[in-house]
Amino acid sequence: MTSSQTLLRGSTISFRKDPFLYPAAECFDYHSDGGILIQAGKIIVAGAFAQVQQSAHADAQIIHYPNSIISAGFIDTHVHYPQTQMVAAFGEQLLQWLEKYTFITEQQFADKAHADRIADFFLHELLRNGVTTAAVYCTVHPQSVDAFFEASQRLNTLMIAGKVLMDRNAPAALLDTAQRGYDESKTLIERWHGNGRQHYCITPRFAGTSTEAQLDVAGNLWREFPSTFMQTHLSENKDEVNWMRELYPHRDSYLDIYAHANLLGSRSLYAHCIHIDENDLSQLHHTGSAIAHCPTSNLFLGSGLFKLFDAKRIERPVRVGIGSDIGAGTSFSPLQSLNEAYKIARLHGDKLDALRAFYLATRGGAHALYLDDRIGSIEAGMDADLVVLDLHATPLLKMRTDYARDINELLFILIMLGDDRCTRATYVAGECVFPAQQDAKDK
Ligand code: GUN
Ligand code: ZN
Repeated sequence: MTSSQTLLRGSTISFRKDPFLYPAAECFDYHSDGGILIQAGKIIVAGAFAQVQQSAHADAQIIHYPNSIISAGFIDTHVHYPQTQMVAAFGEQLLQWLEKYTFITEQQFADKAHADRIADFFLHELLRNGVTTAAVYCTVHPQSVDAFFEASQRLNTLMIAGKVLMDRNAPAALLDTAQRGYDESKTLIERWHGNGRQHYCITPRFAGTSTEAQLDVAGNLWREFPSTFMQTHLSENKDEVNWMRELYPHRDSYLDIYAHANLLGSRSLYAHCIHIDENDLSQLHHTGSAIAHCPTSNLFLGSGLFKLFDAKRIERPVRVGIGSDIGAGTSFSPLQSLNEAYKIARLHGDKLDALRAFYLATRGGAHALYLDDRIGSIEAGMDADLVVLDLHATPLLKMRTDYARDINELLFILIMLGDDRCTRATYVAGECVFPAQQDAKDK
């Protein structure tokens, strides 16, 4: 580990508080000429460049990014790495899409070499899109988890991932049992949780592919290892919700199925949550559980329109992050996810302004994951996971941003017109990991 210093210079945006809950002006720090001093993977000082420079060693390497905005690295709170190879699968809604495409593709991850290849591609795709942390589903195969964490370990990315638990309603080649799921997950927790920057997530796919016995085992395992995470799907699609009523007639709601298995609480992540009611939202709030809002997926599969402003209601806010949900989602770019989140909110009559949107993809995601003391903002003491967004990435972006009057407008334009082309650089624990050294020299 080097103790040399790097000083990044450019416009910087970072959040202190949640702009859904507090007046916007109290929530963010913006410096049109900002500086971020990095040493040993951490942010040492951040603020106005002139001030930060005074704290820097004389030999600090200064890297200047004009016409750019530097933000905390994006956080994707819901994504399936094995589905990278099946993004853009035509024509089905959730349950048929799972059968026709997903469960076929995921069987290939019995092959460790295949898993290695896709995991490596996937992680580089995240970094190309400025995503430095994600909550990731692997497949039922333990080797798919090893492949993912090994690749993440090489890049030193802070990742959360786990083996999918499924003991019914899927092809036999994708099924474990309650006991095998427990044993394999436990071994993986002991191998990977807290190993470098890797975190384990207990991952029952959803109540449709786990028996009650398996959900109970997942809850027991979580209590045994309370610092791990838990992720699953909830109320994504109306046919799915009706099916849950048939499978669990004795439960009050879809969420109640998970509640009875002790799967609510800090570090639990529920993807989608489209067809849920006030009781569910209140329970998610009171238990400190989080929602992963996945706009491109919800539109692609025709699942429905998540009520973001309902979830974030000030009297009982639920923690919400943004998710790509690749391969049902259609873009790795959080800018594109926020673009669609804006439109979904508009269809409800709400206005998702750019500051709230950017919060969701950075500090809001970190808050949803209970990691906001380490990642999600540009502050002294935080891990130096950062994205540099190029305001001149396309002719239209350059032309349009030249007419922007303030940071609010700049960020909104980025969300509406931006995508992976805007990623000028991505830093992981202080190291520039995108573009790769060779690519950078070629430019
Ligand atoms: N519900 C259960 N499994 C999945 C999945 O792989 N993707 C999505 N979008 N929903 C699910
Ligand atoms: Zn999903």
